[in-house]
Amino acid sequence: MNFTIKSGNPEKQRTACVVVGIFESHRLSSAATAIDKVSKKYLSNILKHGDMDGKIGQSLLLHNVPGTSSSRLLLVGCGKEKKLDGSHYRRIVANAIGKLKLTGATEAVSYLSELNVKDRDGYWKLRQFVEISQSVTYEFRQLKSKNKRSKNKIKKLVLMVSDRKDVATGERAIKDGIAIANGVALARDLANLPANICTPTYLAEQAKKLGKSQKSVKVTVLDEAAMEKLGMGSLLSVSQGSRQPAKLISMEYKGGKKDEKPFVLVGKGVTFDTGGISIKPSAAMDEMKYDMCGAASVFGAITAVSEMGLPINVVGVVPTVENMPGGEATRPGDIYTSMSGQTIEVLNTDAEGRLILCDALTYSEKFNPATVIDIATLTGSCVIALGKHASGLLSNNDSLAKNILDAGESTGDRAWQLPLWDEYQHQIDSPFADMANIGGREAGTITAACFLSRFTKKFKWAHLDIAGTAWLTGKNKGATGRPVPMLVQYLIDRCD
Ligand code: BES
Ligand code: MN
Ligand code: ZN
Repeated sequence: MNFTIKSGNPEKQRTACVVVGIFESHRLSSAATAIDKVSKKYLSNILKHGDMDGKIGQSLLLHNVPGTSSSRLLLVGCGKEKKLDGSHYRRIVANAIGKLKLTGATEAVSYLSELNVKDRDGYWKLRQFVEISQSVTYEFRQLKSKNKRSKNKIKKLVLMVSDRKDVATGERAIKDGIAIANGVALARDLANLPANICTPTYLAEQAKKLGKSQKSVKVTVLDEAAMEKLGMGSLLSVSQGSRQPAKLISMEYKGGKKDEKPFVLVGKGVTFDTGGISIKPSAAMDEMKYDMCGAASVFGAITAVSEMGLPINVVGVVPTVENMPGGEATRPGDIYTSMSGQTIEVLNTDAEGRLILCDALTYSEKFNPATVIDIATLTGSCVIALGKHASGLLSNNDSLAKNILDAGESTGDRAWQLPLWDEYQHQIDSPFADMANIGGREAGTITAACFLSRFTKKFKWAHLDIAGTAWLTGKNKGATGRPVPMLVQYLIDRCD
């Protein structure tokens, strides 16, 4: 999709569709007012008929409105004008694009970015517009044998600003928005691919491809022999039941000074999680192809920051394995030594995410990180606790946690912090090893983080449990690309 910024009168736009806002109840936005004027109250009269009253979610498509130069006019409900905040704006834009998709228009001129949004500036409104448009029109059709591309695509969107001097900021917002949207789309594509295609080896190949296309990204891939040498017994214990060899991928983006400490992102890349010998029940097991969404978000974030050329250093680390049962698979009760030297009793082979992350976290020490954030579809209990709206956040550093929460607020890709108190640590005590890999039924998300915290003592660290947010079920089934927007915003905020 192509985006441009312009300023000008809504009635004069020669286009397939002009998009303007209507507030509750029947109050016209300034763009709608202008059209109402030239059309001799055409809009006010239609709204009086009661077809829409301006609530968010509503819309009305009109054709050939008198006095205008466009073939269509899409009225979009914007709710109460005084209540228009960031989250309302996001819903308004998503609704507008969703409705636009249903029309025959392949281009449109939108005045929604001119709406006043509480505590948000022009840059934010325009960047969000781009991200939301790309996200709403995203499709995953590459594995359909017919109609790989859907017709009637929106090809061009013109975003209007009320003042000509805002055009330059607007153009920057579009550039950044496209980079982030590309990162989100890559994360969604990788995650939506089935596990027979998206294997650890496939992910390693995609990383190398990224390294070739982005000059500023250096990619290295460790194979099992190299990991063995480093002592990654915990990570390798997960892949040993699978035919697919494990990989450890590093993607180093250099946008800052050579000796500047990097921000490290570590993403769980379990390309399929059967549970191993502690095998999962069959219902919805297909969704365990999404158990590499943390890894996908790291690919997405590295893509976005390198496209934006952010002036910082960022390293993506992706431990990737397939968790299968088999003659060589880990048995419950087996004990392994991690790269840190700490020993782990594997009481449940389905708690495998932490087993690969702990070695990847120890490995991250070598980058001398400013901060380390791991991202993982780690626990079913996080879905029970927070549902699909917030990712779980746990951290050993409150200011890092605050920065992540803020990035989530500003992008609408939110997290909620859970405690990481010492009192929970004893739940993972083991009589035979330094720790067990499970901590019982209570506080499953917290005890998983407690486990990871034993491998992150040397740096500022935060853990994002994205089990509830990374994909949707039901009619919108598929990967969301979360938390790419939050991660990239966190990194943008580190640039000044
Ligand atoms: N990948 C799963 C977590 C998961 C399950 C995410 C369902 C989203 C939906 C993870 O590897 C896992 O199996 N966790 C176990 C841990 C338990 C054995 C301590 C869980 O949450 O049940
Ligand atoms: Mn599991
Ligand atoms: Zn898993």
